Amino acid sequence: MKRNPIIVALDVQESSRALELARALAGTVGALKIGSELFTIAGPEIVRQVRALGVPVFLDLKFHDIPNTVAQAVSSAVQLDVSMLTIHAGGGSAMMKAALEAARTSAAKFNRPEPLLLGVTVLTSLSDAELGEVGLEPNAVEQVARLARLAVQSGMNGLVCSPKEVPVLRGFLPPTFQLVTPGIRPAGSAMGDQKRTLTPREALEAGSNWLVIGRPICAAADPRRVAEEIVQTL
Ligand code: C5P
Repeated sequence: MKRNPIIVALDVQESSRALELARALAGTVGALKIGSELFTIAGPEIVRQVRALGVPVFLDLKFHDIPNTVAQAVSSAVQLDVSMLTIHAGGGSAMMKAALEAARTSAAKFNRPEPLLLGVTVLTSLSDAELGEVGLEPNAVEQVARLARLAVQSGMNGLVCSPKEVPVLRGFLPPTFQLVTPGIRPAGSAMGDQKRTLTPREALEAGSNWLVIGRPICAAADPRRVAEEIVQTL
């Protein structure tokens, strides 16, 4: 294995708990994901503190706005030295291209590495009927494929997707396109609200590049040990 593909979702509302987890997991996982739950309360400071531990950060704020605003948000994220960030592919090609251009220029300007820009296609919580409700094709599989193609054409570096979508997407995406999959459950761990899951090993075999795991690690009595055990299974 070339690198550690495990990304742990720090889905907590206290900086102190997030930092405790980050300290416990530093060195055993590939990155830590900071999403809207933690970022809304703890802000950029928690990103700086996690980075100060030497752990790569995946900033999962799913930007979706006019191209100029998304570009500026990406520039802010680059200044925080994040390694990956998410953008809704449904925001359109102009928005994605503006984000990529901002990542390139800000990385050069602030002397930071260029982060991977990942598209979000259709939230896995949406059913076909709910897609119809918002005026989209009531077919999640087709909508995912359509937005995945648009993300590739726009120059994005990868996608966040369900592990169950990976085999279909791998059929037409460029081989270097990064697939990041949540919905991962190690054998024997609680499903929580996730319905269609794969084990870490199954997801990698299906063609995922990165595995996002939250509760199975963060809610464990010994998160580091659980993370190490998962890495052993890969
Ligand atoms: O605790 P669990 O392993 O289910 O956490 C999964 C993480 O991945 C959460 O941060 C969740 O918001 C995120 N996610 C997801 N499904 C998606 C997109 C993101 O579970 N389709």
